[in-house]
Amino acid sequence: MRDSYLDEFFTFLRFASISTDDTYKEKLVECAHWLVEKLNRIGLQAQLVSTPGHPIVWAKNKHQPGRKTVMIYGHYDVQPPDPLELWDSPPFDPVLRNGYVYARGSTDNKGQILSHILGIQETIAEKGDLPVNLHLIIEGEEEIGSGSLPGFLKKHRDSLGCDIVVVSDTGMIARGVPTLSYGLRGVTACEVKVTAAKMDLHSGVFGGAVANPITALARLLATLHDANGHIAIEGFYDDVKPLEDWERDAWKKLPVDADKLILDETKAPALFGEKGYSTFERLWARPTAELNGIGGGYQGQGTKTVIASHAMAKLTFRLVPNQEGDKVLKLAHKHFEKHLPPGVTMEITDGHSGPWYLTDPHSAFGEAAQHALKEAFGTEVALIREGGSIPIVSQFRDILGVETLLLGLALHDCRAHSPNENFPLENLQNGIKMNQAILQEIGRARS
Ligand code: BES
Ligand code: MN
Repeated sequence: MRDSYLDEFFTFLRFASISTDDTYKEKLVECAHWLVEKLNRIGLQAQLVSTPGHPIVWAKNKHQPGRKTVMIYGHYDVQPPDPLELWDSPPFDPVLRNGYVYARGSTDNKGQILSHILGIQETIAEKGDLPVNLHLIIEGEEEIGSGSLPGFLKKHRDSLGCDIVVVSDTGMIARGVPTLSYGLRGVTACEVKVTAAKMDLHSGVFGGAVANPITALARLLATLHDANGHIAIEGFYDDVKPLEDWERDAWKKLPVDADKLILDETKAPALFGEKGYSTFERLWARPTAELNGIGGGYQGQGTKTVIASHAMAKLTFRLVPNQEGDKVLKLAHKHFEKHLPPGVTMEITDGHSGPWYLTDPHSAFGEAAQHALKEAFGTEVALIREGGSIPIVSQFRDILGVETLLLGLALHDCRAHSPNENFPLENLQNGIKMNQAILQEIGRARS
């Protein structure tokens, strides 16, 4: 791999492109401009497309009739790096240690999308052109729900016509094992606020006379699951498509021990989840109700004898085929209303949602992807589903009418969204090869 690749990777990583925080708005614009310049330099025609949110980078080669058209999609925005004190080196000052590049976004998604860019660069340098017509779309709002992208896809639907989408923003089952993901979970969010008194109260003067909203919220949230980890919301599982035997069997044969992998990585004292399902089954094919944050009352040092006026919790549900986000939220509202303890009022605010995705790994393009992965990594391909979500993927199907190949390069210990996020140079290297192989294979595919 050329030295310049590492320099460019580091430059890309130095942009603090944190999409959720307005303070960094300009950094996203600078990062997008850097991409446009880079893509123009390697021989594509690239442009920055302004949106109500962060800009979209759109690059193409010269399209020729009779060739397959591929859209490669990725994102240049990143999650906030907090908590900063847990990083061994500053998040936007990349370093290379033992073959791994450490920085926010190194895996999710800058390293992965850069692999594609460098693969395209090498093919154009070697052959003068790509074997396919290309659209490269790199957005700046993936980590905040891709708000502007559907509008862009609709507006440019005719120009963006393509045969298949390729995305490297998912995981590999294990280091060195090329992985094709054929499913993603969906996600839908809400926030629950429980209020008792109109202000914070002295807990000696009022304690025992009015409800404590933190206690009420804790009781309410505890009704979400039973002791076996099963979600207790009435009707929640009604639309869940049962796992098929072939899938259960195939996942049992995957070349990794999921339980060990997760215990080693997380250092949790034990695994926990819905009874009756293996870890992969729980992660990939079963829905969850997760509390992502909880707040209320005094959080400072020492004690404060207070009854808070309110308490709140942030929740997300991971969804699986054939659940529908709006319906799940309605059921959750009903559940919370039914179980709300006395003496408090409740306010529920719904958040963003994105659908699940399931496709056929044995379609003509799926087979092409498997060939490409095998060629790039030199070993057998694992077929998996994913627990994470990329909401725009189902919109590629709905708006553009195309399927997506998920060829992820993220490892389990890449610490995406966590401190010390990292990406092995080995994956940048293999990702470059993978890009070259997949464009070749798609160029030749039957469908
Ligand atoms: N790259 C992830 C999604 C992902 C991670 C898919 C691992 C499969 C395996 C993406 O950047 C992400 O974090 N998505 C969010 C979506 C949300 C903001 C709507 C997620 O899954 O929480
Ligand atoms: Mn990502």
